[in-house]
Amino acid sequence: MMTSNRKPKVWASFDPPESVIDYLSENLDLSYNATGELATHEMIHAKLGDAEGLFVTLRDMVDEDLLNEAPNLKVVSNLAVGYDNVDVKAASKKGIWVTNTPGVLTEATADLAWALLFAVARRIPEGDRMVRDGSYTGWRHNLLLGTELSGKTLGIWGGGRIGQAIGRRGLGFNMRIIYNNRSRKEEFERENNAQFVEFDELLQRSDFLVLAMPLNSDTANQIGRAEFEQMKRSAFLINIARGGLIREDEMIAVLKEQRIAGAGLDVYVDTTGIGAKLGDLDHVVLTPHIGSATHETRRQMALMASRNLVDALHGREPENAVNRKAIYESNIPRNGVRNLISV
Ligand code: DGY
Repeated sequence: MMTSNRKPKVWASFDPPESVIDYLSENLDLSYNATGELATHEMIHAKLGDAEGLFVTLRDMVDEDLLNEAPNLKVVSNLAVGYDNVDVKAASKKGIWVTNTPGVLTEATADLAWALLFAVARRIPEGDRMVRDGSYTGWRHNLLLGTELSGKTLGIWGGGRIGQAIGRRGLGFNMRIIYNNRSRKEEFERENNAQFVEFDELLQRSDFLVLAMPLNSDTANQIGRAEFEQMKRSAFLINIARGGLIREDEMIAVLKEQRIAGAGLDVYVDTTGIGAKLGDLDHVVLTPHIGSATHETRRQMALMASRNLVDALHGREPENAVNRKAIYESNIPRNGVRNLISV
């Protein structure tokens, strides 16, 4: 049980934003990786013995081995809505809360999906390069012809908050919305005239296929050569979710062969190598995982993740626990879970 004035020890793998530093420091004994670089294995391990809370980003792998070395850990607060970097099952077995930041990044991420869609459909980066390098010499009837959105089919793999927000925008562009998800979203269907379809049908009918699924053992590597072969040759792929949904080498081959019309990608498996692997393919637009990267959204993510951390370490149930059910079922006393249950 925590004594009244003792602040729980927390280590952050990154420098938390100014907007939450005071709040964190008032409530926690906070230390963090101030190098501006990704936390090294050694850095993390040096802190694990003491840490009651970890504040991490999606780039930090919180696996079972790491959790085994953290005897005092009560919460892992992930500064992201996706939490494929955390072994939630292992954490739950130990009664450790795992929290994320749902909701606050929905609109920003949906916007980015559309930015990529527009960019690749209307060849915006190619045009930008042309104007800058002087090769643009004036209007021509056949210059940079792109693909119209109106009347086309927008296919969304994923019916969660972000998938739905992407779909809602599609209505405004006069598109037909189809989607596939583990469960039907009837309100979304009603409000957006959206149609639930099987996965294969989604591949076959989409003119723009947008991936908005979380990465987990059911969704990993689900899109590869065989799936691309089912798509229209004129279709575009947009991925704002996780690179691991796609078998990346197969996607690269398909794009080089121009088996589909193009892609707009924000996320990758081989983050640092993808640029060189794709070379200078004009029909592929790349961004560096910036789906949630707006000032407004990042501020809200930092606040939400900080509250999750503070609440969990001060005996309150964190609002955004992804393993609430498992934690209650685990009934492990050392993290105060029994106390919570009996309240
Ligand atoms: C998330 O939150 O999972 C996004 O991919 C990062 O912004």
